[in-house]
Amino acid sequence: MLLIIVAYTVPKLTDYSAAALEQAAGECIAACVTDAQSVRNDAELKAFRDRWMARKNGILTQINDLWLKGAPKDAKREAGRCVNQIKADVERTIETAENLLLERSTGVRLTTEDIDITLPGVRRPIGAEHAILKTSREIVSVFRQLGYSVSEGPVVETDYYNFEALNFPPNHPARDTQDTLFIAGQQSKPQRERLLLRTHTSPVQIRTMEKMKPPIRIVIPGTVHRNDPPDASHSPMFHQIEGLAVDTNITFGDLKGTLDHAMKALFGSSVKTHFRPSFFPFTEPSAELYVTCFICGGSGKREGNAPCRPCKQTGWIEVLGCGMVDPNVFEFVKDNGYDPKKVSGFAFGMGVDRLALLKYGVDDLQYFYQGDVRFLQQFG
Ligand code: DAH
Repeated sequence: MLLIIVAYTVPKLTDYSAAALEQAAGECIAACVTDAQSVRNDAELKAFRDRWMARKNGILTQINDLWLKGAPKDAKREAGRCVNQIKADVERTIETAENLLLERSTGVRLTTEDIDITLPGVRRPIGAEHAILKTSREIVSVFRQLGYSVSEGPVVETDYYNFEALNFPPNHPARDTQDTLFIAGQQSKPQRERLLLRTHTSPVQIRTMEKMKPPIRIVIPGTVHRNDPPDASHSPMFHQIEGLAVDTNITFGDLKGTLDHAMKALFGSSVKTHFRPSFFPFTEPSAELYVTCFICGGSGKREGNAPCRPCKQTGWIEVLGCGMVDPNVFEFVKDNGYDPKKVSGFAFGMGVDRLALLKYGVDDLQYFYQGDVRFLQQFG
């Protein structure tokens, strides 16, 4: 087949009026677009580009020479504008032709401002659950399987819920055991309304009993604050999980059985539990729960007779505080069905951060809060 291409030749201009320039430019661009349509392969693309863009004798160069350099002085400005316009249009036409050719050979559609599809993609790292929240979730799930539900409460708490209703009377020395961060400027309020950062999750016991009638079985995960400077085993912010079960005829035996089961579920069926008498204002009697060290198995020794550090060679690790709910606590929620003569219950509270520390064998609590991805991604 014979294909006749009537090549575009740059005309000499005699009329430099705006209208004439526009007309000439229009013909030139139209010719370029027509020319672009004949491009079917790389060789033709190159020939097409050279025809229009070659420095030596390309159509744009000719236009520059004939129309701009050859323009009378008073038409130079208008001619310049016209030539620039042609340049931009020709360049865009060539680019479109390139893209069309690429699109035809790769099936990928490109637009003028395109992405370089040969660049490697952006890899977005998948986040990992934080070791503390992971531990918290594991503990909560053990109790959920026992039929406990989850309760939550505010971190900024009143003196009443954090202390008074938990049987820490105003000015009682038991308050000194919890180094409290108070909100400033509260002096004008009655003491029980003054705000502080809750020092434990126990206030949610009262808040829940105000809302729900017995029987209840709840666990309460959350953050708490104390005025402790950060070091390897302390942090001004940490996490606790509280537990509360109230019904008729709940005994210390229920407390022991429940916690023994939970510890075996958490640390393995071979751990043993051990209760030692303790004191908390809101429980009577109170106890501390110890489990056989899940690092050394209770022997106090590591491989090669090395001393076991987490249990300080005792073979036992303290994991939580617990006890039977003090009747004085029930007095504060008596009107909602918690008559201490009719109901009884047990409660417990544990520090999640410390358990995560032991569980993962981390030797400095601060690693958990520094946000170093190299540390955190190990738990992913
Ligand atoms: N609230 C206590 C603390 O932060 C922990 C605790 C001990 C909670 C005994 C309890 C409990 O519910 O019965 O030190």
